[in-house]
Amino acid sequence: MSQSSFQEISASDFFYRNRDIAGFTNPSRAIFAAIRELVENSLDAAESLKIPPDIYVRLLPVGKEDNGSQVFKLRVEDNGSGIQPRFIPSAFGQVLYGSKYKLKQMRGTFGLGGKMAVLYGQIMTHKPAAITSSTGQAKIYSFKLMIDIQRNRPIIVDRKVLINKEKWRGTIVEFFIEGDYLRAMPKILEYFKQTAMVNPYANLTFVDPKGRLYRFTRSTTEMPEPPKETLPHPYGVDVELLQRLIYISPHKTIVDFLKNHFHRVGNITAKKFLAFTGLSPTKKTKKLSREEIVTLTQNLKKFKEFLPPDASCLSPLGNDLLKAGIMKELKPEYLVVSQRKPSTYAGHPFIVEIGIAYGGAIARKNSFQIYRFANKIPLLYDEASDVSYKVINAINWRRYKVTPDMPIAIVVHICSTKVPYKTVGKEFISDREEIRREVANALREVSRKIHHFMSKREHVDKERKRISIFAKYLPRIAEFSTSLAGKETRPDIKKLIASVRKYGKEE
Ligand SMILES: Nc1ncnc2c1ncn2[C@@H]1O[C@H](COP(=O)(O)OP(=O)(O)OP(=O)(O)O)[C@@H](O)[C@H]1O
Ligand SMILES: [Mg+2]
Repeated sequence: MSQSSFQEISASDFFYRNRDIAGFTNPSRAIFAAIRELVENSLDAAESLKIPPDIYVRLLPVGKEDNGSQVFKLRVEDNGSGIQPRFIPSAFGQVLYGSKYKLKQMRGTFGLGGKMAVLYGQIMTHKPAAITSSTGQAKIYSFKLMIDIQRNRPIIVDRKVLINKEKWRGTIVEFFIEGDYLRAMPKILEYFKQTAMVNPYANLTFVDPKGRLYRFTRSTTEMPEPPKETLPHPYGVDVELLQRLIYISPHKTIVDFLKNHFHRVGNITAKKFLAFTGLSPTKKTKKLSREEIVTLTQNLKKFKEFLPPDASCLSPLGNDLLKAGIMKELKPEYLVVSQRKPSTYAGHPFIVEIGIAYGGAIARKNSFQIYRFANKIPLLYDEASDVSYKVINAINWRRYKVTPDMPIAIVVHICSTKVPYKTVGKEFISDREEIRREVANALREVSRKIHHFMSKREHVDKERKRISIFAKYLPRIAEFSTSLAGKETRPDIKKLIASVRKYGKEE
């Protein structure tokens, strides 16, 4: 038997070999994914300071590769928080490095997106990425970076420091990427449109390779409250997390440990729980045996009296902003939105926001237009695998006087500290029971309202038809009856029609 040879690969090497799972499948998907990842980083960076985002994206053609494919220079510029210089190289040159591995709602979660874009650009064009950033202080830092894929480390090719006279704050990312813009174009434009819909306080500018300018202007400067970082909720804890917390905790007794490291656990709840699990409140956490830690974890899940997580770690849009966003991009004739109360799955808080819109700029197709969002990110691929799609299709819409051929858009926004994406490409949300239930409840709520609207519309339509029949036949009836009666002057029917019309208008 031949000997197998073993080797270890780094995280960047893994994603270099498996770029499909991060959404970088082919030149068209890659160019879409690169723009999307960088725009999302920019939105996060501006929102973290509650600044209305101003994001400028330019895709400039710079020539053809030997294999005939097109190379572009992609530049994404924002007015966000900026990055401190010591973090820039790793933030853009080391896979699985980031500032967002925290318990609060953000677009970024994996510490991967920006690097995948840079890595894809690098392996196709062998050129470094340029990152320029300032936190608004005295200096602007500019780096040229490449990724050492085998070691998963940034290589600093060049570094410059400039004086920040204007007190500019933000980040500019620029790199070369091979791609197929023509094929990616519909999705890219749709991405901007939907991003504008769910971020109505953002200014987005996109200059495409032909120099065409697409501008999505903000309709409000109101922004949702930024989320607050939270502690883990007892229902979402496993043995590994518990062990890590015990290891780093300065709190010695188990009651203090529980109070200080878990979300919504105060003195009373901690003591009740310890009575439930049969441990003394003064027991030292570092003295817990392995078995005790396992039992403790199991009991954390079983204890029914923990309060549900509060929603301060989430930053949903709220009804007004969701309405503003949908009105801005779809200009519907009728719109109803609703935000559900916070709920949880596996200890992770989440909120479902929903909107249903009729008419206006919504196209009439053979099915509803479904707009899916997670943490204010539009999800454009793999619609049929998404939980919202399944829930929408399971509803008997005829009950609500709605049919798929009507110009109807359904907007579903799920926000959570941990959106259960099925891939790191963030394209669709897995079918969690609790999420499914909340989406279904939200849909039912807005469907009842659209039902009411449809019934009224039907009634108005009938009335309109009735009036037009009156308007058409009354003059003739008047004419015939005048001649039948052998009279010269026709009776004045204007008044009669006017009175019917008036009634119609009131309706
Ligand atoms: N435009 C930006 N402004 C400020 N900080 C940024 C910007 N872009 C990236 N960063 C920083 O770089 C880090 C890495 O970004 P990257 O996109 O690779 O991962 P992420 O956003 O944390 O997670 P995800 O993989 O889900 O996108 C971020 O966590 C953030 O701290
Ligand atoms: Mg990111």
